[in-house]
Amino acid sequence: MASIHPTSSRPKRIGVLTGGGDCPGLNAVLRSVTKHALQAGLDVRGIEDGFLGLIENRVRELRYDDVSGILKLGGTILGTSNKANPLKYATGTDEAGAVIWSDVTDKCFATIEEHGLEALVVLGGDGTMMCAQPFADAGIPVIGVPKTIDNDVIGTELTFGFQSAVEIATEALDRVHSTAESHGRALVVEVMGRNAGWIALRAGVAGGADVILVPEIPFEIEHVVEQIEWRRKLGRRATILCVAEGATQVGGEQIIHAMDPTSPDPVKLGGIGEWVAKAIDERSVVEARAVTLGHVQRGGSPVANDRVLGTQFGAAATQLLLDGKAGRMIAWREGRVTDVPITDPAGGQRTIPADEPLVAAARSCYTTFGDAAPRDLPENKRGRGPRGLLR
Ligand code: F6P
Repeated sequence: MASIHPTSSRPKRIGVLTGGGDCPGLNAVLRSVTKHALQAGLDVRGIEDGFLGLIENRVRELRYDDVSGILKLGGTILGTSNKANPLKYATGTDEAGAVIWSDVTDKCFATIEEHGLEALVVLGGDGTMMCAQPFADAGIPVIGVPKTIDNDVIGTELTFGFQSAVEIATEALDRVHSTAESHGRALVVEVMGRNAGWIALRAGVAGGADVILVPEIPFEIEHVVEQIEWRRKLGRRATILCVAEGATQVGGEQIIHAMDPTSPDPVKLGGIGEWVAKAIDERSVVEARAVTLGHVQRGGSPVANDRVLGTQFGAAATQLLLDGKAGRMIAWREGRVTDVPITDPAGGQRTIPADEPLVAAARSCYTTFGDAAPRDLPENKRGRGPRGLLR
């Protein structure tokens, strides 16, 4: 990254916000953006609760003390909102109870003007990058920093928060291993990820899951049960399943936990883990239990990799503004920090491609994605039975 140097179009005061669902590492980025900006002689303003703070004029100064010591803190010191899209903001309900959507970008522009914000750094996922568009279109330099535990933002191979969620999910898989073995059960761990299976895939591989179910590879419950029976024949009492919240059966639909009509992203997924456990109970002699990790995956301290990535991303975002750049999103590509057009995430969500090498690696370790019968294991290669006391 280039060193700090003034450019003709460099802003004197920048605003920073965190939008969408939170994730570990947001504070690491806020610290890095702010410290780098202070070093360059800029003023920094923190906008509270994402774009809601622009709509409601809630903006405060960020000085050194405000961001010192926050590197390892979970959540975001600024707060966030995943409902505050200025172009489509729920302002009430009509007589029939239908949500009234309004364009409140004028309120945001008024806040920007009142506080003299000459540029914005927005930390968020695809939704946040889209929310920033009207401001970029109006000529305000905007830099996006991609966050989300889902790792599904188009344009970057990595978002901060993802690696922390994977660690949490992996620890959960490790923990259910022992209780599953004690009882001879199938233990289903449902993880988040929306329409992408990255958390399930990575945590499933790291946690040695025997079954990984992801939205990108529709499953047949019969193949899942076959895997459990196949393991039983090998003398394995336990089967561990890592299931993404967006996973579906072949020809089936995602299971929705709830709808939030006031959110631009109203579908809240959840429940597939319980469904899979119940289906196993109905079809197999093996007892199944399900655990839904939920927001545990978004909470707590970021892992070291997310602190480092957040620090790199934050510094790069401020540097782009110092270099007079606008309309860019920081990205991780081919092992280094770079930047791409902030409009890239509008292309949808980055899901697991058909030729993902980690899927092949998992399959080669006898893990199934529920899309085929268990792979054959030659009789003479089975060994002497499970290690330990359990038979
Ligand atoms: O995008 C992050 C995420 O945690 C998804 O994995 C999950 O589907 C969703 O947000 C949950 O949203 P909420 O916090 O609104 O329940």
